[in-house]
Amino acid sequence: MVTILTRPRFNVFNVFNVLTLLTLEQAGYSLRPYFSKPGMAKLTVNDLNVRGKRVFLRVDYNVPLEEKDGQFVITDETRIVETLPTLRRLSEQGGKLILVSHLGRPNGEREPAMSLRPVAAKLADLLGRPVAFVDDCIGEKVEKTVGIMQPGDLLLLENVRYYSEEEANDPLFAEKLGQVADVYVNDAFGSAHRAHASTEGVARVVARRGGQCAAGLLMERELKFLGEELENPAHPFVVLLGGAKVSDKILVIDRLLEKADTILIGGAMAYTFRLAQGCKTGKSLVEPDKTDVAKSALAKATERGVKFLLPMDDVVATPVKTDKLDKKGKPLIEYQNVRINTELNCPDDAAGLDIGPGTVKAYSEEVAKAKTILWNGPMGLFEDKRFAEGTNAIARAVAEVTQKNGAKSIIGGGDSVKALNRAKLGDKVSFMSTGGGASLEFLEGKVLPGVAVLTDKN
Ligand code: 3PG
Ligand code: MG
Repeated sequence: MVTILTRPRFNVFNVFNVLTLLTLEQAGYSLRPYFSKPGMAKLTVNDLNVRGKRVFLRVDYNVPLEEKDGQFVITDETRIVETLPTLRRLSEQGGKLILVSHLGRPNGEREPAMSLRPVAAKLADLLGRPVAFVDDCIGEKVEKTVGIMQPGDLLLLENVRYYSEEEANDPLFAEKLGQVADVYVNDAFGSAHRAHASTEGVARVVARRGGQCAAGLLMERELKFLGEELENPAHPFVVLLGGAKVSDKILVIDRLLEKADTILIGGAMAYTFRLAQGCKTGKSLVEPDKTDVAKSALAKATERGVKFLLPMDDVVATPVKTDKLDKKGKPLIEYQNVRINTELNCPDDAAGLDIGPGTVKAYSEEVAKAKTILWNGPMGLFEDKRFAEGTNAIARAVAEVTQKNGAKSIIGGGDSVKALNRAKLGDKVSFMSTGGGASLEFLEGKVLPGVAVLTDKN
């Protein structure tokens, strides 16, 4: 299975530790061993025979769409492509596949820009066969269409978040979804951290009727790489963490300090660590209220003998507010006077936006020694090419050690995957997660409700 915690040093007779663990359990952590526990495995599609059965298949087709000449075009189809093995397997077996997903956050409204219709077309393209589409996810139209499906057919339903009952995990809504389900399969790892009707409630409905609830092949792979592979990693185990905020990553850092040999920090979150060390951070993005958390991570690293590196130089620039507005309606910031800073203090007028060449070299050397790598979060503001070199160089180093030394490299989803794909190195690493928030929560040790609800394998 899937979850996590219980440290090897843990002494059950110590009352304080017992209380700590109880609190952690209430907070959504499980008391099972570190990243996974064999024997607690979940049913997978390999265990099913779905011939002639109606399979309710939750997928995560929350893909980026862009409007071009009045049409919605999918700009990254990875999440669709990654489910094809599950679709092919179940369809060849003769299951009737009813695909269910959300797209975006329409908040219970029929938001046309968040329709899954373009995904049905893309899916048909990729599979080279028809995929039916119904513009609803519950009700008569759905039931009628399912009623005429033949074994092996595929049907995609409309965005399940057009109903607010989805996110509320409304039991009645789950019943309605479950009307067309004999078997429940969850291949939506990216949504498994959500206890919504289609990711959790409907599985309970199916189970109550004696139906099986299984993980899809993508879900299985995600849990294997982010779970089992990190349970007993080959050493040296090097972890790269970037992104904007320490607060987003601190639980992951805390857990990885138990396993990793080396932790390399990049992205804006490095500046909160620098602030904690008494350095000046200029106009860099920092979380002043998180310096205590940063300090305790640094102390734990020292205590456990984990090499914990912060950038030694960086690329900085002067942020200037413009009259233009960004997508969120905030003033657009322009970065001027881009330069390399070799001091640990950031100049007063500047923000740190990428790791510098010295750091790239030092981090690449650590990566080159690794047998296992976990990378989550970009090293800088890589969307702007002036601040992309740190992230790109790290991507090259990770790809190289994977290809040349056979290191296992696991990319924890979200922006790091985007960065790797942009650098055209996506196929040069061992595994890229399709999860964003889900991968982080899983790495933090949280129980994912979409996994917990699946049938235990006996
Ligand atoms: C994601 O893209 O992170 C998943 O599809 C979940 O979407 P959500 O964050 O809107 O629940
Ligand atoms: Mg998200």
